[in-house]
Amino acid sequence: MEALRGIDLDLPRSRFTAIMGPSGSGKSTLMHCLAGLDQAGGGTVTVAGIELGSLDDDALTVFRRRHVGFVFQSFNLLPMLTAEQNILLPLELGGGRIDEAVRERARTLAETIGVADRLGHRPAELSGGQQQRVAIARALVTQPDLVFADEPTGNLDSTASAEVLEHLRRSVRELGQTVVMVTHDRDAAAHADDVITMADGRIA
Ligand SMILES: Nc1ncnc2c1ncn2[C@@H]1O[C@H](COP(=O)(O)OP(=O)(O)OP(=O)(O)O)[C@@H](O)[C@H]1O
Ligand SMILES: [Mg+2]
Repeated sequence: MEALRGIDLDLPRSRFTAIMGPSGSGKSTLMHCLAGLDQAGGGTVTVAGIELGSLDDDALTVFRRRHVGFVFQSFNLLPMLTAEQNILLPLELGGGRIDEAVRERARTLAETIGVADRLGHRPAELSGGQQQRVAIARALVTQPDLVFADEPTGNLDSTASAEVLEHLRRSVRELGQTVVMVTHDRDAAAHADDVITMADGRIA
């Protein structure tokens, strides 16, 4: 089965792009391919001149750690770690020193995202929306060049959604990050610079 067919897509740097489309149209599959989490069978994905298919597993892992933040549709938080440990994990994996300044930056991010008061709790002790916000903070904590967010506001109320979307917009503007977000919500998509619609594995 082919989840994606004949997609030819250029995502400009330092822009906020939203991807919309019906359930099963291939949005998550496309995001996973773009982020180097899945191999595009047959196609190629090039990021900043690097063709992801030419990298071996180790190189791909390094590429993702250095450049990519991913908010999974199903969060993928580690159940045995607290919210704070989950958020700091990409920094740990990156091998950088986690000093007080780094912790402070992570706490500020958690505050902005609205989950600062739950940092000592494990995912099972958090609401769906709180887990989602931890997943967002984890994706942003390294300030990656590329942020992929798969329905990042799917579990949030309108106020929390607006805060997260505004934060993503600011990341694009102030840090020059490139953000690609899947959403079913037209109001959420309206925060983006560009909107792409998928249908049946293609760009509609
Ligand atoms: N690992 C997989 N193996 C086989 N088929 C898959 C796999 N993952 C997804 N699919 C199929 O690929 C198609 C696209 O799935 P995808 O998850 O990309 O859709 P989506 O647009 O993200 O949908 P939703 O809005 O429900 O999240 C679906 O028909 C799905 O069943
Ligand atoms: Mg999906």
